[in-house]
Order: sequence, then C-alpha cells, then structure tokens
Amino acid sequence: MIPVLSRTVLQRSCLATLRKIHTNVYPMAHSKFEYVKSFEEEGQLDPQHWIIIRLRLKNVEELYDLHELEQPNDCSLTSLLQAAVDVVMQDFKEIVLCYSFSQEFNFVFAKNTTLYRRRGPKLLTNVCSLLSSAFVHKWPYYIQSSALIFPPVIDGAVHLLPDDQSLRDYMTKQQNVCHHQNLYKTAFWGLVTKRGMLPGEATETLKGANEGTLNELLFTRCNTNYNKEEDVFKKGSIALRKKVQKTVTAQNGSIIQRSQSTVTVMHADLTKDSFWSDVLVLDQPTELNAKLNYLKHFEKKETLLPHTWMVVRIDGKAFHNFSEKHYFKKPNDLRSIELMNKAAFSVMKEFPDIIFSYGQSDEYSFVIHRYSKMCDRQGGRIISSIVSLFAGVYVYHWQSMFEDVKLHYCPAFDARVVLYPNNSCLRDYISWRQADCHINNMYNTCFWTLVQQGQCSRQNAEEILCGTFSKDKRSILINRFNQNYDDEDAIFRKGTVMYQKMVSEESGRSRGELPENNQAEEGCRGIVVGHFDVIKDEFWRERPWLLGEERNATTLDDFD
Ligand code: GTP
Ligand code: MG
Repeated sequence: MIPVLSRTVLQRSCLATLRKIHTNVYPMAHSKFEYVKSFEEEGQLDPQHWIIIRLRLKNVEELYDLHELEQPNDCSLTSLLQAAVDVVMQDFKEIVLCYSFSQEFNFVFAKNTTLYRRRGPKLLTNVCSLLSSAFVHKWPYYIQSSALIFPPVIDGAVHLLPDDQSLRDYMTKQQNVCHHQNLYKTAFWGLVTKRGMLPGEATETLKGANEGTLNELLFTRCNTNYNKEEDVFKKGSIALRKKVQKTVTAQNGSIIQRSQSTVTVMHADLTKDSFWSDVLVLDQPTELNAKLNYLKHFEKKETLLPHTWMVVRIDGKAFHNFSEKHYFKKPNDLRSIELMNKAAFSVMKEFPDIIFSYGQSDEYSFVIHRYSKMCDRQGGRIISSIVSLFAGVYVYHWQSMFEDVKLHYCPAFDARVVLYPNNSCLRDYISWRQADCHINNMYNTCFWTLVQQGQCSRQNAEEILCGTFSKDKRSILINRFNQNYDDEDAIFRKGTVMYQKMVSEESGRSRGELPENNQAEEGCRGIVVGHFDVIKDEFWRERPWLLGEERNATTLDDFD
C-alpha cells in the first residue's frame, strides 16, 4: 500500500532527482510501514573525545589448529594481520593510529573527527567489516601453506577517552596485556615444544606463575632468553599515520607541495615518555601512570533491553560504486544477490538465535530472538560479530560467484541494531523492508527496460517515470515491452527470506521458545530459504513458532 504524494511534492523531488543520474534511481513512493524508522537510534559519540575501535579476532586457537600455524606466534599470520590493518588505515584516513598485538586491534580516530557524524555503531562496523574482508582477501597472499577454512568472527567495542592522558594510559594498558600474554604463551609453548609436555601439564606447571617465574622458567627449562624474542611479539605493532609534504606535478605542469599521509609501522615502547614527546605528539603533556583500572569505565557498553526483538541490519558501504567497479548487471545481478544470501546463511548457521532474516539489494536484516542472550545482549558485540562474519563470507565466496570478475578492493558493510518491543512493530519492520524492495525493484525494472530495450536516455527514462504509480509502471512494461511485471523472478521482486525451521517438538518445549542455554539444538535445526511474501498474515500464521506468543517474565533470571 503506497500513500499518494501530492503533485507539488512529487514535482519538487523529481526536479531534484533529475539533477543526478544514478544506476538505481529514486522511486518516490513510501510505504505505510516507514514509521518503524523512528525506532532507530544514531549512537552519536561525544565530541572532542578520542574514539577507539577495539576489535578482537575470535576462535584464534581453532584458527591456529586447523591451519597448522606455528605456535606461539605465526609470522605469516602476523604479516597478514598487519596487511589487513593497512587496508583499514588506507581507507579511513581519520584513523591516526592502530595498536595491535596477537589477535587484538585498537584503531584510534582523531579526537575531532566528524566521520559518519561520529555515529559509534557506524564507525565500529565499517572498520570491523573491512578488517574482516581484508583478512579473507589477503589470506592466500600471506599464508600459502593452507587455504582459509572459515572466515573470522570479530568481537568489537567502542571506547571513548576524554583526554590525552587517558589515551596514553589506554595504550600502556594494552601493551602491558600484550607483554603478559606473550610471555605466558612463549613459556607455555616452550614447555610443550622443547620439553615435550602435554598442554594440560604445561598449564598445570604455569599455574600462578608471575613474570619473574615465567622468565626464569623460560631461561632454565627452555633455554630461551625472553628479552631476545622479537619486538613485534613482545611489544606489538603501532601503525602510525604521519603527514608528509610531497612534491607533485600539477596538471598545468607546475611543481607544487602537497600534504599527504603515510603509515609507518613500529614496535616501540609505549610506556616511555619519548614515544609521547617525539613520536606521537599530543596537545597536552602526559606521564606514565601506574593505576590504569579506571579505563574500563570508558567502554561504550550498551546492554539491549531484555525481551525486545533485536534486529541487526547490515548495508553495503558505497555499493553504488562497488557495483559499477565490479560490473554488476542492471538492475539486478543474481551473482551479487546469491553472494549476499550465502553470507546471510553462514551468519544464521553461526548464530542460531537469529530466527529470521531478510535481504535485498546490498542490505540484510537479521532478527534475533527476543529472549536471546547472544553476546550478553551487548549491542556493539552483536553488530560486530554479525557484520565481520558477513563481510568475510562475502569475500570468501566472491570468486566462486563472480568467476571472471576480480575483486578489486575489499568491501565493507555497516550495521546497526534496532529494538522492537512487540510482534506487531517487528512485522511492520520486515514489511517495510519488503515494501522497499518492491518499490525499488519495480522502478528499476521499468527504468532499465526503458534504457536497455526502449533506447531511452537515462534522463528521458527518469522523466517518463517521474510521478508514476505502480499501475502506471505495470502499464508501461506491458504496453511498450509486452512484459508482465509479475513474471520477473521472485528473488528480485520479493527479496530473500531465511528462517529457522521449527525446533523439534519432542524436546518438550513450546513453540517460539529457545532451549535453556539459548542455543537451538544441532540436529533439529535447519534453515529454510525462499522468496515469500512476508507482508501478508499468511506467512506468519503458517509459521507460528517464529514470533511465538508474547509472554510475561516468569522468573527473575529473565532479567539477568
Ligand atoms: P551507502 O549504503 O550509503 O554507503 O551507499 P550505497 O552506494 O551502498 O547505496 P545504497 O545502499 O542506498 O544502495 C545500494 C546500491 O547498490 C544501489 O543503489 C545500486 O547502485 C547498488 N546495487 C545493489 N545491488 C545491485 C545489483 O544487483 N545490480 C546493480 N547494478 N547494482 C546494485
Ligand atoms: Mg549501501
């Protein structure tokens, strides 16, 4: 159901539209479901604070095991991670510094950045998804011994630091963690590889060991002087952006100086004053602090309201350009849609609390069960985990879908989480996205038919479609091209729906409830993929287990 817009509004927006010529142009109709947009929050971060995007690769032990990487530190993996950091720093010029070690990354945005209007979730997910897609894209260049078996899940958080001293303290704390973790790992793997201990025995031997004991043990039992280990592992890596003046030749042939930024990687000691006075010069003087525990309060933690539906919507970053660069077919490229579907399927398999998902164009919405405790309902962790896996799988399967089209650069996606308090708003949200798909697809189908088969210029096609309604577009297609819109593939008209099959009734649980541990059981789980009409009641009536019945809290545990 599309509301009728007044002529003047239409004419004004048509004129604005005609000034731009795009691949997929702007249908002017809106659906009645659009009110659900008001549930979305921006998550703008306070001005004049350092913004740190902290990312952590999950399941690293499994990654080492399955790919037979060298313990405790694999040099190729370290180089790959540094290369992925570099991709992020090249793309986001507002990142001044990245401190990374082992599987941890801290990207620091300039205090005064206005990128994405300082929207925390947008900064977090764009950086996180790009790191993930770069990791997958670059894997074969750095790790030739073994093909990547699974794309990464990355857990993320935003930290907001009020001044220069807290930035120094944060970095110092991170480097302390790097040092302690690496010393322990070196001792552990020293005992396993040099003394032939079983992992359990090594853990037992190292129980309660302090720094001195670990150093001593390494020296006496493993013949290793920890001080001689490589700095990249002991101290981590600092990728620092520096502004430099470069001499370039202008178009008219004159020689001019231009300010450019370069990224330098070093393994410096962040506890030393010299780093903060000579290498990274801050506005305010800083000193080495012993007490760093206060920093934990600066994490932007958002625990999502219990018992509300959580919807994570991801959207491709600048896919208008990405689709042009990679020769997507217009108006719809089946390869790209199927690739998005593969990524969404993997996300649903990895996170069984996602009961339903809906995708179209460069976006996907994931509905997480309202009683789920996924990632302790921490918003940042939920969106980063989903978007990192999605982006990784997208790149992982790129070649198998696009065959002859090389991936020119790594795609990124942003993600947001929106809460819906009841079944009816959740359904309206899903309807909104499907109505949007319908409106866009009908417009784009008409537009490209006029251009490709009707020999219209793009401007001419826009003029023809300006102010038309659904029935007008259908008439244009049938009268001018003998084409029935309903014969278009459902995947284009309706988008793609995925949902979890009903959990086995033998488990004794009522429909719509998750098991005790909030994880659907293996074996009785399956995902259905189709192109259903999800606006109609019928879809939901036939699958009552998806939304379940609204229930009251039954125990205090529900509020954990
Ligand atoms: P941001 O999301 O704001 O970063 O911009 P965007 O360029 O990604 O635009 P938006 O998400 O609003 O729209 C997605 C864009 O992706 C469309 O406008 C198309 O240009 C492009 N796109 C998505 N799917 C297809 C496809 O199947 N074929 C073609 N040719 N383009 C597509
Ligand atoms: Mg997009």
